[in-house]
Amino acid sequence: ARLAVLGSGSGSNCQSIFDAIDQGTLDAEVVLVLSDHENAYILERARKRGVPVELLDCGGFKNRFPDESQAALAAKLKGLGVDLVCLAGFMRLVKAPLLEAFPRRILNIHPSLLPAFPGVEAWKQALEAGEKEAGCTVHYVDAGMDTGEIVLQARVPVLPDDSPESLHARIQEQEHVLYPAAIRKVMGME
Ligand code: GRF
Repeated sequence: ARLAVLGSGSGSNCQSIFDAIDQGTLDAEVVLVLSDHENAYILERARKRGVPVELLDCGGFKNRFPDESQAALAAKLKGLGVDLVCLAGFMRLVKAPLLEAFPRRILNIHPSLLPAFPGVEAWKQALEAGEKEAGCTVHYVDAGMDTGEIVLQARVPVLPDDSPESLHARIQEQEHVLYPAAIRKVMGME
């Protein structure tokens, strides 16, 4: 499978996809990594690996991802023969132009047991709600925020002395196993 990864941050999930490919547990190639932030470490991880990187043109908007930009991205990814688009810490909402170009072929990873706690800092929301269990979800992307059909989930305990950081770290460890597994699942590799 030919993958494109979009991220706004550190890219540890993107790294887990690279690592799964290297370990032979994911039969895929990352053909492009894109970010909306030129200093995002996800771009550095890709450069180190020799994967092409690109800064996303978001029309100068801080949070929006305009339709024209999404249409241009869809055309670019189609041109590269991309089969699956993986959102990994990407902080803008994907809309019709991209969704329609890749039906059931855009995934996102979210640090909660969806449908609980969509949105930002989901691990913190779980901690503050007094949950005994937290986790992560890979889901198909639809037009909502963290609302698409669930592909796979992993659970972790919330421990009595957890801080937001310690809980997030425990969830991220599971994310790094879950994302490659979810890609295998949707691409029919298992
Ligand atoms: C992850 O916790 C993911 O669930 C959320 O954003 C974070 C991205 O982390 N959507 P990274 O950039 O992959 O390290």
